[in-house]
Amino acid sequence: MCGIIGYCGQHRASEILIEGLKRLEYRGYDSAGLCLVENNNLVCYKRVGPVAHLEEAVARQDLGGHVGIAHTRWATHGIPSEVNAHPHFDCHHQIAIVHNGIIENYQALKELLISEGHIFSSETDSEVLAHLIEKFYKGSLEEAVTKALALVEGSYGLVALHASENKLVAARRSSPLIIGVGQDEIFIASDVPAILNHTKDVVYLQDGDLAIIDSKGYQIKNLAGKLLDRQVEEVKLSMEQIEKKGYKHFMLKEIFEQPQSLANVLAGRITDNQIKLSLNWHREVIQRIIIAACGTSWHSALIGKYLLEEIVGLPVEVDYASEFRYRHPLVSSHDLFIAISQSGETADTLAALREARSRGAQSLGIVNVVGSTVAREVDSGIYLHAGPEIGVASTKAFTAQITALLLLALYWRHEAGYEIDKKILNELRHLPTVAEKTLEANSQVIELAQRFMNFENFLYLGRGLNFPVALEGALKLKEISYIHAEGYPAAEIKHGPIALVDENMPVVVLATKNDLSDKTLSNIQEIKARGGQVIAIVDQDYEPVKKLADYLIKVPVVHVWLSPIINVIPLQLLAYYIADAKGLDVDRPRNLAKSVTVE
Ligand code: AGP
Repeated sequence: MCGIIGYCGQHRASEILIEGLKRLEYRGYDSAGLCLVENNNLVCYKRVGPVAHLEEAVARQDLGGHVGIAHTRWATHGIPSEVNAHPHFDCHHQIAIVHNGIIENYQALKELLISEGHIFSSETDSEVLAHLIEKFYKGSLEEAVTKALALVEGSYGLVALHASENKLVAARRSSPLIIGVGQDEIFIASDVPAILNHTKDVVYLQDGDLAIIDSKGYQIKNLAGKLLDRQVEEVKLSMEQIEKKGYKHFMLKEIFEQPQSLANVLAGRITDNQIKLSLNWHREVIQRIIIAACGTSWHSALIGKYLLEEIVGLPVEVDYASEFRYRHPLVSSHDLFIAISQSGETADTLAALREARSRGAQSLGIVNVVGSTVAREVDSGIYLHAGPEIGVASTKAFTAQITALLLLALYWRHEAGYEIDKKILNELRHLPTVAEKTLEANSQVIELAQRFMNFENFLYLGRGLNFPVALEGALKLKEISYIHAEGYPAAEIKHGPIALVDENMPVVVLATKNDLSDKTLSNIQEIKARGGQVIAIVDQDYEPVKKLADYLIKVPVVHVWLSPIINVIPLQLLAYYIADAKGLDVDRPRNLAKSVTVE
């Protein structure tokens, strides 16, 4: 997602635009730009990096325009660069646009426009909007935008301006836009934080709305030109609350964003009978897969091992990136090295990637931040499109990583000539909905968090695909509540850890139904026999577990390959609510950073 703001009024637009962008950086921060109308000319500044870089460039200029637009970017198409930064322009630099969303038919539109003589400068999908509006511009920006949008497929929050018209034209389909109503000044923005310092009176545009804005007021129409009456509402939330969409912390917001982030990682990659990925690889020579990562990404790598070995049938080695890079690994051109990294900047993972490539391996990245260093250095990649993950504790990136690994395994199987079971494709399509249903356990987890917040040690147990989920649940608790927790394969407790079990050692057990459930049940019995308290994650009324466990958290039934994605959600919530109940800074836990770019 990206952040957009536009302004028409009596103040200098540049200051208002920069201030608004800074309030929207939580929506994306890889590049920023603004464009003002001054004396019937467009004056534009763009910079890579945070809004502060743009602010610095603009601060030295005496910019007087009173109409302008600005954008802070979360890259989806095209790496973070000045040329890919918004605003984008038509060929004659008379029209500027900022866009949030994905133009799904941008390739076809771009080819049409190029055939008509339009010259493009960026790699983005958004730029086609500027040239499409130019194609239809005959003196009315409103009319040109309306005609252009009739050809567009996909999502947009769009704001456009023209050098000779002191107005803005905005349109919304699936990406949010609000109008801020001030005294002789009107704002348009992606979200309330951008304008809250100037007005609390807002109008929430709906899908299909077109807004025509000038300093005296605004009109809202549908794309057929019919005037619409939208209610002005007064914003009640504080600034701090709104940037987190009303959630207390970014981490909680990101946990609850998972239905959307899972939809994003699946978008455009799943059809009725296959998976669509575009990989630059020599699949047929690969005889082994090596996955290296750190922290939570290493946990998804472990899950990737189970999935790839079962579905693709090749051996998979998983390494801590920090170990791989120094152990003089035996690597050849018959290896595919997969680097998993939310940030794409983790020093150890980057070093491991470079080590593997230097030894001849093909490389593939599973990354969230578009244009990050890992993303730029691999031969192929699968972007998560999970949106910015601000909370230090990784949540939505983890479930998106597992989904991307499952997509890769199924795609690989299909490329190797095998059919993909339609049942799993159907379950994948419904995954966002199932994640939504899983989040319904929220209030139950809050109660458990209150009950267990003062314990000083936890064990997390799981088998098979749920063993890495146990590790992830333990890491989540450790890193934000500072409570010691360890994850183990459930059967492993007999080889030592069970000595720790007593009434002061809560044990969280991943006990969803699979071919190992009966064995997991025996582990629960062993724990209960030592006085341990068991919190079991279960997916159906599995009577034996219901009778044995002290506390049950129910999750929906899913295919075993999807179970890590669903089963981790209550563990993310448990860690969050325990840390919050202890009054800790959940988004910025002590000693930690969001991206470890040092060794
Ligand atoms: C997970 O909650 C932590 N923030 C940390 O372990 C993180 O997963 C690790 O540093 C790897 O980061 P990356 O995915 O950006 O490479």
